[in-house]
Amino acid sequence: MEANPLPSLDAWEEDVLLRYPDPEAIATAKATEEYRNYDTPARDTVKEFYRLNHTYQTFDFVQQKRNEFLKFDRKEMTVWDAFDFLNQLVDDSDPDTDLDQLQHLLQTSEAIRRDGHADWMVLTGLMHDMGKVLCLFGEPQWAVVGDTFPVGCAYSDKVVYSEFFKDNPDYNNPVFKTPHGVYEPNCGLRKVDMSWGHDEYVYQMLKDYIPEPGLYMLRYHSFYAWHREGAYSHLLDDHDREMLKWVKLFNPYDLYSKSPEPPDWKKLRPYYEDLVGKYLPSTLKF
Ligand SMILES: [Fe+2]
Ligand SMILES: [Fe+2]
Repeated sequence: MEANPLPSLDAWEEDVLLRYPDPEAIATAKATEEYRNYDTPARDTVKEFYRLNHTYQTFDFVQQKRNEFLKFDRKEMTVWDAFDFLNQLVDDSDPDTDLDQLQHLLQTSEAIRRDGHADWMVLTGLMHDMGKVLCLFGEPQWAVVGDTFPVGCAYSDKVVYSEFFKDNPDYNNPVFKTPHGVYEPNCGLRKVDMSWGHDEYVYQMLKDYIPEPGLYMLRYHSFYAWHREGAYSHLLDDHDREMLKWVKLFNPYDLYSKSPEPPDWKKLRPYYEDLVGKYLPSTLKF
């Protein structure tokens, strides 16, 4: 079994763009054609990626990863060293299309800043994919990126490639296969375990430092079945419904801020040093 079918982590995000094209970009015919061109070899790798993700992200797997990674006993770094570390995730197979990870983070945060949002949201944009360092700790792609979904209850058919869930051992488990599974109705997402990946990891890393709407952005930015498809309403409480607007506000900055022009990090650095200094401790634990 090939554990890492995607040519790069970004291939997942590029595929998300196929599902949710930029409403502005699809105004042009060429872009529409590109976005709609679903039958490419690239899509086969994405499909295989989701097959692995949906097969192996069980309730027990998530508990095991939480135990393993939420101790944060691997590494301690300044935010700047953490960016250097994250940037070791380079994509050899496709050198001309991809910006490095820091550039995606800066394009996201700069787009948020340009629109005049609160500084903590700019910081949220800067940090939102830091959890991808999980790959550098040896985790397979399917346990780092991809759409996230609740585990411990029935899977929604609104999750992309939901047909692959039938191969997940939880699918036929009587405890997990009911709509609410191990959860109380409308218990709130904070009580729900999500499939394991970079969202939950960065949320746990930063949960003491960023205001609540930013924490929802970090924790649920890949939960497309919720914030784009409206699924899982039976698990939500009022607080989730209130926070949904923030998660929705964030998503276009993540998806549609990519541009081939790299941000000028040297010029931007003083602003981000102040911003990081305002909210985050001098080192972060990984
Ligand atoms: Fe992400
Ligand atoms: Fe992102």
